[in-house]
Amino acid sequence: MKNSHFVSETDLSRQRDIALTLAKEIIPRKLTFFVETFGCQMNVRDSETIKGWLSMIGYTEAKNKESADFVLYNTCCVRDHAEKRLMGNIGALKERKDENPGMIIAICGCMMQQEGMAKKLLKRFPHVNLIFGTNALHRFPEMLREVLNGDRVALTDRDNDAIAEGLPKLRDNQRNAFVNIMYGCDNYCSYCIVPYVRGHERSRRPEDIRNEIVSLVENGITEITLLGQNVNSYGNDGSTGIKFAELLRYVSDAPGLKRIRFMSSHPKDLNDDVMQAIASLPNVCHHVHLPVQSGNNEVLRRMNRKYTREHYLSIITRLREMVPDIEFTTDIIVGFPGETEEAFQDTLSLVEEVGFAAAFTFAYSPRQGTVAARMEDQIPETVKKKRLQALNALQARKTVENNEKYIGHIGEVLVEGYDERGEETLLYGKYQNFKMVYFPGCKALLNRYVTVKVTQSNKNSLLGEMIDA
Ligand code: 5AD
Ligand code: SF4
Repeated sequence: MKNSHFVSETDLSRQRDIALTLAKEIIPRKLTFFVETFGCQMNVRDSETIKGWLSMIGYTEAKNKESADFVLYNTCCVRDHAEKRLMGNIGALKERKDENPGMIIAICGCMMQQEGMAKKLLKRFPHVNLIFGTNALHRFPEMLREVLNGDRVALTDRDNDAIAEGLPKLRDNQRNAFVNIMYGCDNYCSYCIVPYVRGHERSRRPEDIRNEIVSLVENGITEITLLGQNVNSYGNDGSTGIKFAELLRYVSDAPGLKRIRFMSSHPKDLNDDVMQAIASLPNVCHHVHLPVQSGNNEVLRRMNRKYTREHYLSIITRLREMVPDIEFTTDIIVGFPGETEEAFQDTLSLVEEVGFAAAFTFAYSPRQGTVAARMEDQIPETVKKKRLQALNALQARKTVENNEKYIGHIGEVLVEGYDERGEETLLYGKYQNFKMVYFPGCKALLNRYVTVKVTQSNKNSLLGEMIDA
């Protein structure tokens, strides 16, 4: 891991000046934007920054992309056919742009940091105006100015990975927020493209993280999710002076902060100190998203995950001893090259043994440039599909089992939304350990904490009643 470096305040204030100058021209024109985000929470966070810039520049949010003057796709390349889907989406916008020639079409995100991708898209889609990678977010006003002057712009410099602090953000709710603590990844799991497109691990300074959280809480947000590809390696390069467990302690006493979540955790780095922090800090939530990927040691070795099944299970056992109401969620890949039927059975037995609250399951998809894509023994799609179905069926049964434990459970829920069903309004929200519950209530309780008792467990969800608002 190399030491982090930062975009200078001079550069950032130049960008802000450009934004404010553009605003004088944009605001009277009443222009609108539409941002479509694919992929993980990192991308959701990045989109908040782009929307923040767009708002500063004077755009307002459009109801749909057909009517928008600025359309952006924030892409993901971690799995599957994202590229094909993007091509389809961009192709479909051609007609809209013919009707509204002033429309700006932009593409950003980690897919744009793939070798040769920007060039390919510019060539194939002459109606695309702007392409930029995750490292160029802080230069958005400058890029947009060039586009408004009639140029086509592509900025996907993978080497320029300085951290930019203090960028504007437009968040979509007043209750919970994602806060990046680090960027990039140095783990090089053999199936994963992230280190190639998002670059080296860089950690933010503890005081910047804390200041952001304090200001969010001052603005009414009470639940924070700390984000990183592997939050447990925060500060491992020594540049921040503290490691992840210390960061948790340092931010957890921000006045008014009710809940702290974090994701994702890597089993190889989830150490005793972090476990102690989860157990002892009152507002750190009792939920760990701990991707296991496979239950078989040989597959884990070839995935370059650097832990064994036994080590993984020992973390689960230890955390459950320390924090009895803790819940685990996970990510699992089936059909990794060379995965035998026995190896797959090991994944099933691990899922059976752990009892995850939820699992995000994926069929392995080769990513160009990664080690696993070059491995022999690629598994046929039909086999991957069969294994995925078997795994999902097992997890569905485990989810039901997990839900049944909650009948009679009483706890505080943060209200996140509501469904209106005829006369009745069903609110929903999460207990601190990530379990979601639905219950009748009034919309005015949105973003508030209420106490809910679980009365019924359905297949996928818990139903309850409010016992205190
Ligand atoms: N194929 C399938 N799943 C993948 N993931 C990452 N790369 C791949 C790939 N090439 C999954 C992993 C990771 C999650 C974010 O996406 O399970 O934890
Ligand atoms: Fe990809 Fe592994 Fe890094 Fe996660 S830890 S982003 S799976 S390389």
